[in-house]
Amino acid sequence: MSDSKPHFETIAIRAKMNQTAEKEHSTPLFLTSSFTFDSAEEGAGIFSGELAGNLYSRFSNPNTDEFINKLCLLEDCEMGVAVASGMQSVYLPMAALLQQGDHIVSSSAIFGNSLYIIKNILTKNGIEYTLVDVDDNAQWEAAIRPNTKMFYVESPSNPTLKLADLEFLGNLSKKHDIIFTIDNCFATPYLQQPSKFGADIVMHSATKYIDGQGRVLGGAILGKEKYVKPCYDFNRRTGASLSPFNAWILSKSLETLALRMEKHCENALALAKHLENHPEIEKVIYPHLPSHPQYELAKKQMLHGGGLVGCELKGGKERGARFLNALKMHSLTANLGDTRSIATHSASTTHSKVSTEDQLKVGITPGFLRFSVGLEHIDDIIKDIDNAIIASK
Ligand SMILES: Cc1ncc(COP(=O)(O)O)c(C=O)c1O
Repeated sequence: MSDSKPHFETIAIRAKMNQTAEKEHSTPLFLTSSFTFDSAEEGAGIFSGELAGNLYSRFSNPNTDEFINKLCLLEDCEMGVAVASGMQSVYLPMAALLQQGDHIVSSSAIFGNSLYIIKNILTKNGIEYTLVDVDDNAQWEAAIRPNTKMFYVESPSNPTLKLADLEFLGNLSKKHDIIFTIDNCFATPYLQQPSKFGADIVMHSATKYIDGQGRVLGGAILGKEKYVKPCYDFNRRTGASLSPFNAWILSKSLETLALRMEKHCENALALAKHLENHPEIEKVIYPHLPSHPQYELAKKQMLHGGGLVGCELKGGKERGARFLNALKMHSLTANLGDTRSIATHSASTTHSKVSTEDQLKVGITPGFLRFSVGLEHIDDIIKDIDNAIIASK
């Protein structure tokens, strides 16, 4: 047998903390705020970092360590920090690595709260920004200034599933000494490992596919030690830490990530193909459909097309809202990446406060629907959608 690295599935299941003296098979839960020392000398050694050991669960706990160490292996990253939510994973690298006078270039098609941080919180600290179209390489290059310190991107983007060219951004950021950061929560490390294309920091809302069952919030920052260590130090002091309980859930969830993503993607592709032939659907967006404008890129950087499908229902905003009300099985909820299928009509819900003009700028047309395709039987998913299309006419 070769001694090459184990496969993704094997790491996700077998990477775990050391067994305790109880010889348990499944990782136990360490619900404790602090840890004891056998002597003053041992305490001093752990505090100074000369000795390994846990001190206090704000910055070290066996459950959070297991979760983050496993995720580092899966993302092929040197170091990680587990944090309380996906939003904290977005904010922490910006807070820890940027300072007054710096400039960040971000894709405009990002989660609303991430955009809020860039536009409203970073600017308060004297950090400038430029927004670019995620799929326009020339815009990224043109936006670079002498004080540009960071690129921020989501790929695929929310909700219109456009892709960033990760290899291009990896090379560009290296050339200009810019920290390339990416929110990888839509793809997960199973479908896409941005560090292989030159990303310096990879963030996750673990709340999404990593949990995968809509139970807990969590976030992770992974990447090169020189960038992640300042994030760890910042979080150690400011304390937006992941709880051991959530880390325990999330580490166990990782064990089934590969299986779940295979099925999410299989169902999503089947739904996308079905909708593409539907007379009431104007267009379908799915990265692994040949009709996606970046199909070749999607094939290059993503193992499968992901669990999200976008489409344009004929009949505009009013029909979109009627469609949502006519669904019987799909959940109407502000989450994605769950075992349960979720439907969103962006114009009447998530983006209702954004002007129609701004919605159109990021590709949200009045009848745009986003499906987070779950793990129910595909026939039931399609039936629910088809029935709601008819009922909303
Ligand atoms: C792309 C993306 N990033 C980050 C977040 C924030 O994650 P959390 O809700 O875990 O804070 C979300 C949440 O919806 C998201 O869609």
